[in-house]
Amino acid sequence: MKKVKYDTIGYWSEVKLDIVQKYASAYSVIMNRQKEISKHLYIDAFAGAGQHISKRSGEFVPGSPLNALLVKPPFKELHLIDLDGTRATDLRRTIGDRNDVFVYKGDADEVLLQQVFLRCHWEDFHRALCLLDPYALSVDWKVIETAGKMRSIEVFYNFMIMDANMNVLWRNPEKVPAEPVGPHGQSLGRSFMAISGLCKGARPFR
Ligand SMILES: C[S@@+](CC[C@H](N)C(=O)[O-])C[C@H]1O[C@@H](n2cnc3c(N)ncnc32)[C@H](O)[C@@H]1O
Repeated sequence: MKKVKYDTIGYWSEVKLDIVQKYASAYSVIMNRQKEISKHLYIDAFAGAGQHISKRSGEFVPGSPLNALLVKPPFKELHLIDLDGTRATDLRRTIGDRNDVFVYKGDADEVLLQQVFLRCHWEDFHRALCLLDPYALSVDWKVIETAGKMRSIEVFYNFMIMDANMNVLWRNPEKVPAEPVGPHGQSLGRSFMAISGLCKGARPFR
């Protein structure tokens, strides 16, 4: 079996992990108290292997999916996706065989739209917190649009401001194509630029 390659992460990624864990805990407390909500889910669409090596200490630190598993009260279901098969397999091995945890090896956009979002219908009183944490601006706009329209899914999108400024901000908005594409050929959508504040006349993020 191919050996899993863990990421070495800087302090800013550790801060991110901390923020996401605190947010997920508050979300779970709130959802658990809503009597009409029958199920609240955690979705980690770019889940990673479940642990990283800290650049500061050289020690292993838990990644976002393992942090989510520690949240109290617990999420009713966790859906963890990674394109890298060795990472998905390692994540499953670390977590063990649990029927509340679903691990997918596949592309986040496809798995979210074709499988996971179908379990989060507003009408079924299901709600979800969905973490989008890609390396680059590689999320298809359709994912964010669909989550927004469903009203049942809260999206936590982590992206690099430098990436947004370099790839999405156009100094001359008149030249922006009707359907902008990201670095992997995926649709970013003009509305991605709208939510990012990167439309006409927008200034780079600071
Ligand atoms: C920034 S890391 C995720 C870190 C993790 N959220 C954490 O904080 O512990 C991004 C992950 O996305 C995975 N990935 C890259 N492209 C992907 C895709 N199209 N679909 C799903 N996963 C992808 C990579 O293999 C990598 O493990």
